Amino acid sequence: MLWGGRFEEKPDKIAIEFSSSLKEDILLIKEEILCGKAYAEMLCRINIISLVEVNSITEALSTIETEYFSDQWNPDPKEFEDVHSAIESRLYELIGSTAGKLRAGRSRNDQVVTSLRMWCKKTSVEMINLLGNLQRSFVNTAEKHIETIIPGYTHMQHAQPVSLAHHLLAYVEMFERDKERFSGVNKESDCMPLGSGAIAGSTLPLDVNFLKDKLGFSSLCENSMDAISDRDFVIDFLNGCSIGMMHLSRFCEELILWSTVEWKFIRIGDSFTTGSSLMPQKKNPDIAELIRGKTARVFSYYQSVITLMKGLPLSYNRDMQEDKHSLFNSYSIYSDSLKLMKGMFETIQFDNSHLLSLMKKSTILATDAADRLVLKGIPFREAHDIIGELVKYCVKNEKGFAELTPEELKQINPVLDKSVYELFKLDNSLSRKKTPGSPNPSFVKDQINKWKSALI
Ligand code: ARG
Repeated sequence: MLWGGRFEEKPDKIAIEFSSSLKEDILLIKEEILCGKAYAEMLCRINIISLVEVNSITEALSTIETEYFSDQWNPDPKEFEDVHSAIESRLYELIGSTAGKLRAGRSRNDQVVTSLRMWCKKTSVEMINLLGNLQRSFVNTAEKHIETIIPGYTHMQHAQPVSLAHHLLAYVEMFERDKERFSGVNKESDCMPLGSGAIAGSTLPLDVNFLKDKLGFSSLCENSMDAISDRDFVIDFLNGCSIGMMHLSRFCEELILWSTVEWKFIRIGDSFTTGSSLMPQKKNPDIAELIRGKTARVFSYYQSVITLMKGLPLSYNRDMQEDKHSLFNSYSIYSDSLKLMKGMFETIQFDNSHLLSLMKKSTILATDAADRLVLKGIPFREAHDIIGELVKYCVKNEKGFAELTPEELKQINPVLDKSVYELFKLDNSLSRKKTPGSPNPSFVKDQINKWKSALI
């Protein structure tokens, strides 16, 4: 017990269990041990503890870490409030009263936020790496599909043809922004709150610059009250997870649609799909559905922490302990989803010949045809009407633009000459695009090369 002195009665068992965060914050054990060791060394440098004591504390902290990771020490949430109390109690068992010396000038309020910042720094780098791996997969597949034409949709209706590469590279852009969000979190988490104590710093001459360097922080937190009660970096981490999951979820939605009998664009590998216990023909895109489904939970974790913080007066309030449940669960869902998305994506087979026949049956080149008439000097409004008539003809006769003969075209309107007929051959439809950022294969190739050198 870290605070028993003024109390006459033992805490209620249910109250301890209700208030324990150990199940969650045990995840901070590595950071806690690192902080403990650095703190002991610092206390020795300022002559508060001896070298012998530092060695005994350091050795015992290493023992606790080994014991925990080899399942020899498993602190009970019914017994301890949090990871800090659990470690301290084990330290007492191992080295007796020397353990108590480590508490000088330190509060769990600055302790927990220091470990949390270290964890966010470390984990944001992990997220950036996972996103980079996913980008590489998308770019590699895109490179094989620069000329694979698929329908581009607006309002879920055929809009204009794009390449599969162009579609995939849109996600690579999103993943890049996701990485930038996590590098922001990494920077934001990079200042050290130790020395702030419970709220107002310490009268002990703590060498906080030594701690900062030892624990790998770039700077010190500037205000002790803000230092112990700021959880903006947690909310930013959760925001990164939420937007990242939203991106994955949008792609999952596409994969789910694309894998239906109606769409038939793709087949997802067996290892990322499941069957039905009743319907033998079924192959369900469960992983894509679950990433989409778990996105809701990640959004709720963001909502939970930003709401948790909104009514809290300065400075530390116990409510803040609830941040860890949301943070660690979001991390776990988002990092798993990134790994699963990469695995699943790499099993996907695209049905190129089906895509081609679908495109031949479509009237998706209507805008390009109208543009063609504009180049012949016809006002766009008029061109729009002429091509509209052509679409009407195609719908009535169940034909795609690519299936029309030059004679048919001429009959519908004499301005629909050979050049329009040529335009309806799909092969060159993308290379006619003039604007940067469009699916013109030569622009897309440049993009792929840019990504390949950026993602080494
Ligand atoms: N477990 C708490 C948290 O995660 C830290 C402990 C601070 N508690 C206290 N009574 N000062 O926020």
